[in-house]
Amino acid sequence: MNRYAIILAAGQGTRMKSKLYKVLHPVCGKPMVEHVVDQLSSLSIDQTVTIVGFGAEKVQSYLEGKSDFALQKEQLGTAHAVMQAEELLQDKKGITLVICGDTPLIKTSTMEALMEEHTKLGAKATVLTGYAEDPTGYGRVIRNEDGHVERIVEQKDASEAEKSVKEINTGTYCFDNEALFQALKKVKNDNAQGEYYLPDVMEILKSEGQIVAAYQTSDLEETLGVNDRVALSQAETIMRKRINEAHMRNGVTIIDPASTYIEADVQIGKDTVILPNTYIQGLSVIGEDCLIGPGTEIKACKIGNATTIKQSVAHDSEIGDEVTIGPFAHIRPASSIHNEVKIGNFVEVKKSEMGPKSKASHLSYIGDAKVGSDVNLGCGSITVNYDGKNKHLTTIEDGAFIGCNSNLIAPVTVGKGAYVAAGSTVTEDVPSEALTIARARQVNKEDYVKNLNLK
Ligand code: UD1
Ligand code: CA
Repeated sequence: MNRYAIILAAGQGTRMKSKLYKVLHPVCGKPMVEHVVDQLSSLSIDQTVTIVGFGAEKVQSYLEGKSDFALQKEQLGTAHAVMQAEELLQDKKGITLVICGDTPLIKTSTMEALMEEHTKLGAKATVLTGYAEDPTGYGRVIRNEDGHVERIVEQKDASEAEKSVKEINTGTYCFDNEALFQALKKVKNDNAQGEYYLPDVMEILKSEGQIVAAYQTSDLEETLGVNDRVALSQAETIMRKRINEAHMRNGVTIIDPASTYIEADVQIGKDTVILPNTYIQGLSVIGEDCLIGPGTEIKACKIGNATTIKQSVAHDSEIGDEVTIGPFAHIRPASSIHNEVKIGNFVEVKKSEMGPKSKASHLSYIGDAKVGSDVNLGCGSITVNYDGKNKHLTTIEDGAFIGCNSNLIAPVTVGKGAYVAAGSTVTEDVPSEALTIARARQVNKEDYVKNLNLK
C-alpha cells in the first residue's frame, strides 16, 4: 500500500513571541520540523508534502530534497492546511500520515505503530493520542460508552466535563487518503476560533458510518506540542536525554548526561568518554577512545580516534588521531590538526594546518599558517598574519623549531629544520637548516645602576 505524509508547518507560532517561525525553532540544534521529516525518512513514504505559509522560503530551504511543498496563503486552520495538499495527493490510493511540524518528539516507531493499527482495524481515520496529566491546551479525545472515538474537541470549545478528559490529540493521524480529502470538503469553521479544524474529520467520517479509531501511545513524553518557549525547553530536555541515551547504548560513556549537550546529528565512536559541561554541535563526528571535556564546546568538527580535548572550543575544523588539545585552547574554523599534534593551554589556531606531531604547547597564536610535521612552536610564538588590511600566510616547514616569544611576520617561510632564536621578529624567509636571530643584541652596562646616584 502506498504511503503519503503531510506535515503542517504554515503557522506563525504567535505564542512563541519570536521573529523566527515556530517550526524552525531548533530542538537540540535541529529545527522542529526537520525532526519530524527525519523521523519519517525510514518509513518508506512514497511522497511527503509539507504545508508552508509563514516563512515558506526558509522552511523549504531546510527541507529541500526531503519533501514536496504546498503553500497555505492564509492560515485558516489545520484542516484548511491539509487541503492545500489536495492537488498533489487527492486522487492517490493509500494511507496518509498527517503530523504537525511542532511535535518534534514523535518517534518513527510510534508512527509505524499508528499505521499498523490503522490498517489492522480497516479504519478510515486513526488519531494518535496520549495521556496527559495536564491536558491544558490540547484537543481532547471524546469516546462513547463503548470506548470508541466519537470526536475531538478543542480546549476552547470544550465543556467543563470535556476539559477534564486527559486523553489528548497529539496532532498526528493516519487516514485513508481518498476518505481524507473527501471529508475535508465538509469541515466547517463554526467554532470558538473560527478555524477549519482537522480533528473534525474524525466526526465527519464517523457520521458517514466509517471506522474511526484512536491509538494511544504509552510514551507520555513524545506527544509534547511546542507552542511556547516553556514547551520548547521541555522538548529540548527530553530530546537531549534521548540523544545521550542513544550514544550510551552505542558504547559512549557520558559521565553526567544532565550537563552534556549533544545535538541531534552528532556521531560518536565507541569508548569515547564525554565529561560534564560539554557541548557537541552541528554535524560533528568524533572517533573512538577520545576524551572530550569537561567544559568543552565542539561544533562541526571531524575528530579522529584517541584524541583528548579539555576545557576548549573547536569549530568547523578537522582534528586527527591522538591529538591533545587544551586546557583552554581555541581551534577556529578551517583548521586542520593532523595526528599526534599537541595544542596546549592558551593557544589559538585559526585557518591553519598543523602537520603530524607538531606542538604549540603554550600561549600562541597560529593564524593563516601552514605548519609542517614535527615543528615545535615555543611558548608565546605568534604568526603576525594581519597588516591591518590583508591576511598573509606563514609557512613553517617540517622539523623547524620556533623559539619562545617569536613573531613571524607574514608572508614569511621558515625552512625545513631551521631554528628561530627566542625573541626574534622574523621578517624575511629563513633558509632550511639555518639559525636566525632577529633581535637586538644584549648589551650589559656594568655598574650602570650603582652610578645613577639616586640616593
Ligand atoms: C492542534 C490540534 C489539537 C492538538 C494539538 C497537538 C487542531 C485544530 N488542533 O492544536 O487538537 O491537541 O495540535 O499538538 O488541529 N498550522 C498550519 N496552518 C494553519 C494552522 C496550523 O499549517 O492554518 C500548523 C502549525 O504550523 C502547527 C500545526 O499546524 O505546526 C498545529 O497548529 P497549532 O496552531 O499549533 O495547533 P494547536 O492549537 O496546538
Ligand atoms: Ca501546536
